[in-house]
Amino acid sequence: MSAEPKVFLNGEFVALSQATVSVLDRGFLFADGVYEVIPVYAGKPFRLQQHLDRLNASLKAIRMAPVMSDTQWADVLTTLLQSHTQSDQSVYIQVTRGAGSNRDHQLPEHYQATTFAMCQSIVADSLNLIAKGINAITLDDIRWDWCHIKSIALLGNILLKQQATDQQCTEAILLRDGFATEGSASNLFIVKNGQLITPPKSHYLLPGITRDLVLELATQEGIPCIEREISEQQLLTADEIWLTSSTKEIMPVIELNRRPVSNGQPGALWRQVSHSYSQFKDQLRRQK
Ligand code: PDD
Repeated sequence: MSAEPKVFLNGEFVALSQATVSVLDRGFLFADGVYEVIPVYAGKPFRLQQHLDRLNASLKAIRMAPVMSDTQWADVLTTLLQSHTQSDQSVYIQVTRGAGSNRDHQLPEHYQATTFAMCQSIVADSLNLIAKGINAITLDDIRWDWCHIKSIALLGNILLKQQATDQQCTEAILLRDGFATEGSASNLFIVKNGQLITPPKSHYLLPGITRDLVLELATQEGIPCIEREISEQQLLTADEIWLTSSTKEIMPVIELNRRPVSNGQPGALWRQVSHSYSQFKDQLRRQK
């Protein structure tokens, strides 16, 4: 029988079943906290610095201080990943404003953050399935206006994703004032006439780490990249549509609102950039 996985909670490594937090934790009562998801390939964290920078930016945005130094975080990941150096994992980090003495909307003057991290497997089979192409629907974005914060308050995202699932779709592409911003748990790219287009960073979307890498790789491949708003019409008439995230990588959308995107197959530019993304991961795996 394999040992129960260890998770990190408030400075200690404990068995998952032993990791408990107070019912007064503001994360539980108010979703008062932020999170990160960091892919790890053969024990090597993917863009760790960028993920930690975004974690600290999210904390700052909700008026919290960094909970640990980058080196301390790196040590936590190393310990969590000790027994997973061969397989691909994702590390989930969550930081909340901790437990007060009662339920009070007012931010406490002093708080003790709750800091949690665990790892789970990235399943290669589901990535292979995604590479065949996914279907998506467009939905109006019902979330708040501070989507650049990686907040644990994900009910909007979850209910949007569920509407997609109800219609046998993998993702929902969100529209705000007639413009497509991102997916319910992913960033958006379209290809039109050989150009790769993605909405600029703003309060309406999460500054995705995968998004940044895709832009870098596409630029290296000589593909012209533009950051500009994408209207609903431009989305509906795109040559290719991609959705990106740390755990799902680059998803080619082959059907949108029940209609095929171009010929209903993953596109040529997707194949090219997806190939260089795989090479990037392989290089990381080989790093000493
Ligand atoms: N979500 N936009 C939203 C709303 C997201 O939830 C995510 C990722 C992204 C992509 O960001 P990145 O490339 O840094 O993963 C964009 C994670 C994976 C999640 O909630 O599990």
